Amino acid sequence: MDLHILDYRLRVTSINTAGLSRYTHALIKLVFLSNRTRCKFFSLTETPENYTVVLDEEGFKELPESEHLQVESDIWLPLNVLCDRNASSSSDTVGVTKIATSVIIPLAEQHVSVFMLSTYQTDYILVREKDLPVVIHTLEQEFAIYREVGGETFRVYSEDTDVEEDRKEAVKMKVHPVLSPDNRFSVMSLDPATLPTIATILIDVLFYSNCSAEVENYASLGLDYIKFFSFSLIDGYISIVMDTETQRRFPRELLFTSSSGELWRMVRIGGQPLGFDECGIVAQISQRLAEANISAYYISTFSFDHALVPEEDISYVIRMLEKPLTEL
Ligand code: ARG
Repeated sequence: MDLHILDYRLRVTSINTAGLSRYTHALIKLVFLSNRTRCKFFSLTETPENYTVVLDEEGFKELPESEHLQVESDIWLPLNVLCDRNASSSSDTVGVTKIATSVIIPLAEQHVSVFMLSTYQTDYILVREKDLPVVIHTLEQEFAIYREVGGETFRVYSEDTDVEEDRKEAVKMKVHPVLSPDNRFSVMSLDPATLPTIATILIDVLFYSNCSAEVENYASLGLDYIKFFSFSLIDGYISIVMDTETQRRFPRELLFTSSSGELWRMVRIGGQPLGFDECGIVAQISQRLAEANISAYYISTFSFDHALVPEEDISYVIRMLEKPLTEL
C-alpha cells in the first residue's frame, strides 16, 4: 500500500462564535470564491464551542488576526493512504477503521499526536511537520511512502539516524468522557459547479442559523441535539457532513452520498478540550472499532474529537467505549 505526504502545510485554527462576523468575509471567499484564492486545502467545522478552520498557508493568509482567532502553533501535514483496489482487504470497513492498525495505532505507539479529518472522499491524517522523521520511520514498514512537492511525487525513506528505536512502549491512555447526541448525520458530496445553486442556503446554515429550528424540532421529540456541520473543499473536491434536519433545507438532487445512503450517529470524545499534544485518542477508539469491524468517519476539531458510526451500531459503540480500557 502507498502512503502520500501531501504538499500542504496546514494550520489548525478556531474562530469563536462571538467573533464570527469578523471572519465571514474571508470564509465566504474561501468557500465560494476559491478562484480568488490560492487556497487548495480548506475545512470548516461548526460545533457548539467554535468554528474549527483547517487550511493551507495560502488560505491562512486570508484570516485576519484578532483575539477571536486561536491558532495552533505548529504546522501540520496531511497524510493520505491510497488503497490498492486489487489488494485483498481484510475488512470491508471504511474511514478511520480501515487505517487503524496500519497507521493510527503505530503512530500512537510512537507518541505521535495526530489530528483526523475524514471526508466523503478520503481520510486525512494530520501530523506535525516536526514529527515527520518518526512518522516515516514508523510507517515505512507497512507502506511505500511518497512525498508530493510542487506537483512532483517522489519516494521517501527514513534517515533513521535520529529516531529513537525504543520510543515504542505501552501508551498510557487517558479515558475521555463521551457524549452522543441524537442527531443523525449524512456524509455527502456535491459537484463544485453546483455550489452557487446552494450558496444562499449554505451561507444561512454556516453563518446565520443559530440552530433554533433544529433545537426546537429535536426538543419537541425529547431528543438531545448538538450543532455539528462540516464543509471541506480540498483539491477541488467538496465534502459536507450534516444532520438530517439541516439536510432538509438543501435541494435533494444536488447533494449525493454513497449508494447505500446510510445515516451516521456521532460520538463526541472529550469533556475538557483535548488539546493537541495527547496521542492515542484516535487510536483507542479506532482500535476497538476495528476489532468490531465497524466503519467510522473521524473528525477532530479544535476542542474535541468526533467519531461517526453507522446508526445501527451506536448503542454497541457506546457500550464498548464505556468499558474499561486495555492497553494498546
Ligand atoms: N491528538 C489526538 C490523538 O493523537 C487527536 C486529536 C485530539 N485533539 C483535538 N483538539 N481534537 O489521538
